[in-house]
Amino acid sequence: MPDQAPLLRVREVSKSFGAVAAVQKVSFDLYGGEAHALVGENGAGKSTIVKMLAGVHRPDAGTFELDGFPVELHTPADAKAAGIAVIYQEPTLFPDLTVAENIAMGRQPLGRFKTIDRTAMLREAAQLFTRLGVSIEPNRPARGLSIADQQLVEIAKAISADARVVVMDEPTRALTGVEVERLFAVARSLRDDGAALVFIDRVHRRQHRPVRLLSPGIS
Ligand SMILES: Nc1ncnc2c1ncn2[C@@H]1O[C@H](COP(=O)(O)OP(=O)(O)O)[C@@H](O)[C@H]1O
Ligand SMILES: [Mg+2]
Repeated sequence: MPDQAPLLRVREVSKSFGAVAAVQKVSFDLYGGEAHALVGENGAGKSTIVKMLAGVHRPDAGTFELDGFPVELHTPADAKAAGIAVIYQEPTLFPDLTVAENIAMGRQPLGRFKTIDRTAMLREAAQLFTRLGVSIEPNRPARGLSIADQQLVEIAKAISADARVVVMDEPTRALTGVEVERLFAVARSLRDDGAALVFIDRVHRRQHRPVRLLSPGIS
């Protein structure tokens, strides 16, 4: 383990929904340049952890630290500002916007969208795809993209927003073998560029602790 503070430290975080204790005192550290898998059964609380990191749910107890400093993740904007990007099982692109516009939304407030230099926006999207080694036409609408391609657009959006922590909630569920390989190749390159990656996955076995953080994860 490196000597410096972790990129993200999750400390004793808990979250209940009414009587359901979805997440109980979960702690883990993430360092840049590492990929981890967070695995658990259906209902174990994985997505609840993800949504707390995304600023969608607020923990009842516990803290998050970024580079050793406490950080409040009260809103999705807080999470984005903290450099945390989440890619959900069901991608959340705007279907009527182009791929390049969706990527630019990672940074630009919606109201100022019309002032964006379209040429620069398309060029940036193309550069991100080149870097990721994927061929998606930046000027096409997001509608009609495969789930796998939508996820790659979400990843490009995360990079464009300077995300340092990238969390993917069961990203391989709807993908073919070839698409999984491509996603992992992209993930490796993000990790090698210093990002901390978390893959959420589901296990079906009954006897183990509800949520585990495996280390060092994919290689
Ligand atoms: N918004 C919510 N309202 C009420 N209960 C919820 C909500 N989100 C999750 N839960 C409950 O919390 C538990 C953990 O859910 P979840 O985090 O989605 O698990 P996982 O992603 O590991 O399958 C489940 O019992 C689920 O029904
Ligand atoms: Mg889930």
